Formats: sequence, structure tokens, C-alpha cells
Amino acid sequence: MARLWRGVIQEYRARLPVTDRTPVVTLCEGGTPLVPSAWLSALTRCSVHLKVEGSNPTGSFKDRGMTVAISKALEVGAKAVVCASTGNTSASAAAYAVRAGMTPIVLVPHGKITGPKLAQAVVHGGRIVAVDGLFDDCLRLARALADGYPVALVNSLNPDRLAGQKTAAFEIVDQLGAAPDVHVLPVGNAGNITAYWMGYQEYAADGIAHNRPRMWGFQAAGAAPIVHDAPVPHPETVASAIRIGNPASWRLAVAARDESGGLIDAVTDEQILRAQRELSGNDGLFVEPASAAGVAGLVAAASAGTLEPGQVVVVTVTGHGLKDVETASTAYGAAQPELIPATVTAAAAVLGLA
Ligand code: F0G
Repeated sequence: MARLWRGVIQEYRARLPVTDRTPVVTLCEGGTPLVPSAWLSALTRCSVHLKVEGSNPTGSFKDRGMTVAISKALEVGAKAVVCASTGNTSASAAAYAVRAGMTPIVLVPHGKITGPKLAQAVVHGGRIVAVDGLFDDCLRLARALADGYPVALVNSLNPDRLAGQKTAAFEIVDQLGAAPDVHVLPVGNAGNITAYWMGYQEYAADGIAHNRPRMWGFQAAGAAPIVHDAPVPHPETVASAIRIGNPASWRLAVAARDESGGLIDAVTDEQILRAQRELSGNDGLFVEPASAAGVAGLVAAASAGTLEPGQVVVVTVTGHGLKDVETASTAYGAAQPELIPATVTAAAAVLGLA
């Protein structure tokens, strides 16, 4: 009998900080595809799967944490929520907040979030404020607003966000029947690597998985504070979603790295864009630049010989490619298709079929 996916709270209720009194605000997020990647498997001589988080309702993994954070905020009677964002958190917060009848307030770094992400916050009626500064400044303001005014913080400093995001690790184990040997993902504010590690540890502690993966995180080279072990005052990268100089979950990400025997390394913008293109051309998956950072890191590890063959590897691709069409159009060059008269002969001729 068909059984429809009910969203992460209903699917993993016993593992989340909710009770019978918690109103469930959901867009049926989660349950995302785990897609085998033939070219990455061949390249690495491992079994590589992609966890496609762009398939969530607002197009990124943020929905997993947002369903929990917004449900909990509603439970305690919040009327408004606030977040700082490079674009995806704000899109998700706006969608879930209006669904709950709350006002979403979003603080974004001026001129540094993509048009489609801004549009998402706009269509959901978000109160959008562009801050003359970095994401890191936005986060400082969001925390201060939540401390001093009646607005609930829904950034990943809010533990409910991380609790929701850990469900991605549960899904992977549920689907593979075991944890992977290596889990690879991009790192920005460092909440997601922290949440995955929480999820894998929880399943291992409860005997649902008998192994735990090594966590491999990748930052953009121009915004790699954890790699350099120092804040980056002027972060720069084409991957605007992870343009962050002082991540909130820094310590927790380092703990995830060290406890798992993993690594956090950097990839250049060039490597990120090449990985984005290869995912599009080989796997049929269009992801935004930040989302390709994990794949770029895996490719680099394969060519450096640091990844032993024969392992099971999962790479999270965090957000949909339509989140940033401008970078893709620029990076891919000629976006203009050839113009022909509306005849079959002209079409056949231009396609070289005649
Ligand atoms: N990939 C995408 C597409 C993201 O939007 C983000 C973070 C990350 C990766 C990194 O995840 O922060 O948990 O380490 N985006 C946040 C935002 C900062 O505001 O949307 P992280």
C-alpha cells in the first residue's frame, strides 16, 4: 500500500524535541533522493551516492531544521522569527513562518545573496533588511534582536534547527542499511556538518548503525576560517551561500571532524565551478555552487590519492541549481540558443542531422 512521506517531524518524531502539544508546521520536507553517481564512483573507485537536498520544498536542506524551529517557536507563542542568511535560510524561514502565521524577519548581506533566493523571501512576505556588512554582521544583529525583542532566532544556533537537520543522516542510514564510510559536505556556518555528526552518533549509540562515517567538510578557499584556524575578515567566493568568515558552529564542526577522524579542507572557486558543471553534465543534477563544494573536495581527494578505493561515500549536495542561475549562465558561457526559422529543415540543418 502506498504510504506518503509526512515530513521529518512525523517520520522521526521520537528523535526530535517535540511533544504531542507541539503544532507541526511542515511542508513535508525530507525524504530526499539518495542518487548513485556513476562518474564519481568510477573516478574514486568507491561507491558514491549523492544526497540531493535541493529536492526539499524551498530548494535546500534548510527546510529540515526549519520545520522543527518554526514548530517550536509556534508552540511557545512567538509572533515573529528572525534569521541572518546568505539566502537559503531566509527562503526557508519565510516559507515556514508564513505557514505558521508568523512574521519572518530576515537580515541579509547587502548585494551578496542571489536574486532567486531574495525572491523567495519576497514572495512569502518576509520583512527583508539588507545589512551593509557580511553574513557574520547579520548574525550578530539577529542574535541581538532575539535577545532584546520579542522575536525568535531561527538560525542554526537554535538547537531545534540542528535537531531537524540531523534527520538527513537518519535517512541515509535507513536507506543504505549502514552509515557510509565517508560523508562529504560543504561547510559555511558549520551547522550542517554538526547536525549530520549528531545524527550518525545517535544512530550508532542506539545500535541502528554499527559504524560511523568520517566527516569530510569543504570550505571555499576564500572563506575558509576553519581550515586556517582563524576568522576571515573579508571572505570572498563565487559560492555566496558559504561566504562566511566566522562560523557560528565552528567548535562543533571541529569536534565532528576530530571525533570522526575526518577533515575540513578548502576548494577553490575554479574547482567548485568545475564540480558543478560535471554534476550537471554527468549526473543530470543541477546544484548551486556552494552545493558543489563537497563534490569538488571529493574529486581533489581522489586525484591526491587520499581516498582509499572500495569505500561507501555519501556527498550532500545542499541546494538546487536554480537558486543561482546567474553564476551558472556566466560560468557556462554562451547561454543564447541559436535562432532559426520555424521549419524542420532549418532545425535539422542547425543540429547537423541533415
Ligand atoms: N550549502 C548551501 C546551499 C547553503 O545555503 C549553506 C548555508 C551551506 C551549504 C553551508 O551549511 O552553514 O550549515 O555549514 N547557508 C546558510 C544560509 C548560511 O544562510 O542559507 P552550513
